[in-house]
Amino acid sequence: MKEIRHVASVKVHYTRQQYMRGPGDAILCAKEFMDGEPFGVILGDDVVYTGDGEPALKQLMDQYEKTGGAVIGCQRVREEQVSSYGIIDGVKTEDPDLVKVLDMIEKPSIEEAPSRIAALGRYVITPEIFKILEQTKPGKGGEIQLTDALRVMAKNENVYAYNFKGKRYDTGNKLGYLKAMVEFALRREDIGPGFREYLKTLEL
Ligand code: G1P
Repeated sequence: MKEIRHVASVKVHYTRQQYMRGPGDAILCAKEFMDGEPFGVILGDDVVYTGDGEPALKQLMDQYEKTGGAVIGCQRVREEQVSSYGIIDGVKTEDPDLVKVLDMIEKPSIEEAPSRIAALGRYVITPEIFKILEQTKPGKGGEIQLTDALRVMAKNENVYAYNFKGKRYDTGNKLGYLKAMVEFALRREDIGPGFREYLKTLEL
């Protein structure tokens, strides 16, 4: 009941990106809702399982509270995967899971990639990003990239990349979507055991 009351008090705003102009443009569409506050971004095709741990975005919010800078949720990816993500060039901080961002490149080739630290669809961003986004030209794929705006931001203020805890699924491709469905189902106490038994009976 407490949870329902809490959700009922949340204000929901909705907007729609008119044209497929990229994630940076999509965030600009929500500018009027932000009221000059820092805000969280969740890219819907990145799903993260954290079990009993804090949700990925909450982990980033905690880092924002500590640092006061924008925080990009990241994990290390395999070399052959760097060309699918925004890749971070950063320097270590005292916390081994936190890197200060110097630069960032959207979907680099293996040769161009400054690291294997990839942005995985979770961000806490400060409102200064809007001015930058308004001046950001189309980048990779002809789209306004959030990565390009964040790299400009990182030149002028503190931006961090945080290695969040959790297993992340890329549900933007069919195989990733199926892996997420099956693994989330197997973890459930109610349907997990029955589903596991069912999978064992398959003879395909
Ligand atoms: C977007 C971002 C990219 C990020 C990725 C995470 O790309 O542009 O920087 O690393 O999400 O999934 P998309 O997957 O939408 O092409």
